[in-house]
Amino acid sequence: MIRTTLDGLHTSHDDLLPSVGLLALDRQYEALQEEFLAAIRRVCDSGRFVLGPDVEELESELARMLGVPHAISCASGSDALLLALMAVGIEPGDEVLLPSYTFFATASAVTRLGGTPVFVDIDPATYLLDPTDLLRKISPRSRAVIPVHLFGRTADMDAILPIADHAGIPVIEDAAQSILSTWHGHCSGGLGDVGCFSFYPTKNLGGFGDGGFMTTTRDDLAERLRLLRVHGMEPRYYHRVIGINSRLDSIQAAVLRVKLPHLDTWTSQRQANAATYAELFARAGLDGQIVVPTDEPRGRHVWNQYVIRVRGGHRDALRTHLRERGVASEIYYPVPLHLQECFRYVGCGEGALPATEQAAHETLALPIFPELTADEQRTVVGRISEFFQLPPPPPAAQAAGDRQEAGGGLQAPRFLRRLNAVGRADDVRC
Ligand SMILES: Cc1ncc(COP(=O)(O)O)c(C=O)c1O
Repeated sequence: MIRTTLDGLHTSHDDLLPSVGLLALDRQYEALQEEFLAAIRRVCDSGRFVLGPDVEELESELARMLGVPHAISCASGSDALLLALMAVGIEPGDEVLLPSYTFFATASAVTRLGGTPVFVDIDPATYLLDPTDLLRKISPRSRAVIPVHLFGRTADMDAILPIADHAGIPVIEDAAQSILSTWHGHCSGGLGDVGCFSFYPTKNLGGFGDGGFMTTTRDDLAERLRLLRVHGMEPRYYHRVIGINSRLDSIQAAVLRVKLPHLDTWTSQRQANAATYAELFARAGLDGQIVVPTDEPRGRHVWNQYVIRVRGGHRDALRTHLRERGVASEIYYPVPLHLQECFRYVGCGEGALPATEQAAHETLALPIFPELTADEQRTVVGRISEFFQLPPPPPAAQAAGDRQEAGGGLQAPRFLRRLNAVGRADDVRC
């Protein structure tokens, strides 16, 4: 605990909250509980549990919201990537370029079809696919590129799209973490050939289980994706191509339709939280120790994750300190894909992707969910200041007044008190 003789009220860490969780899905659930239960009951009453009217409505609503002609649901974000690669015809031996700094499913979708992932380094400032390294690695064997819009920020499509176009290969956007993110006013998922999204519960639009969807502006690919997700079956029991079983449950669709009208507001709240963090970190004087993520000037960053870089090799010790003070955090991703045991055969060893490897050692994700309160954010930054033996920052001007009511002053929010929910992110992975 630090006490200083500085003027002002905020020189002690005693007034920080006892805990802050990485996620608080229960806050969303409590607010919309009646609507969820009514929607689930409606599906039960209908007796239609796979695909069906709710799924069709959800697909239309998503397509409208994202400004694309086609949105096609499926069973998960992982399946969306697999189906997209099947639709563009990836075959054994084909090379697919993708970042190593991403969730496993981006690469495993390629290997499930017998393709070879070619790992590309990231831009150290954005953690997104580095177009210069992409250009270096593209070859006559390249058959597709998968930019990942990691943490809610769109990859540099101004550079990536012309490179892919010149090579004559399709662009599959991994938009699992970036629903509603934009690039020059256009939603991610509609920028390349196919966009792949996840409804995993930790995503900005998360269901009550697994789910996903694909977007495309191409009618030919839309038709193929619809066919591939139902075993290539059209009409019933006649199979034109070999597909997979990847259908969305009606109950998931009904739940997601309750959430969908709130997504834009929740996204704005995430953006406000990111701005508050930027202000708190600046006030805390942590510039020498912490690199905060920047906003995207060319589009909307939707902040699925708020990922800081911890300088000086202190990341793991800081994380332990936060855990001991009840503040949850997560590392995305501690071992980049090119160094995973299962991808050793690719022959991309240690030192091959310097920016990726450095990010894996230095980054830490902090709570950023929409319902996060001003006091919780100040607690997060205050505990980080405490680790670096600095006083906690004064409350952020922008956040202090307008969101005080949500947290009830300096008390832990009701939901956290009830659940004792420190780090209730045990099943969080991306
Ligand atoms: C970048 C990325 N790609 C793909 C996926 C796979 O999505 P799902 O978990 O819905 O299969 C995830 C997260 O889960 C992800 O974060």
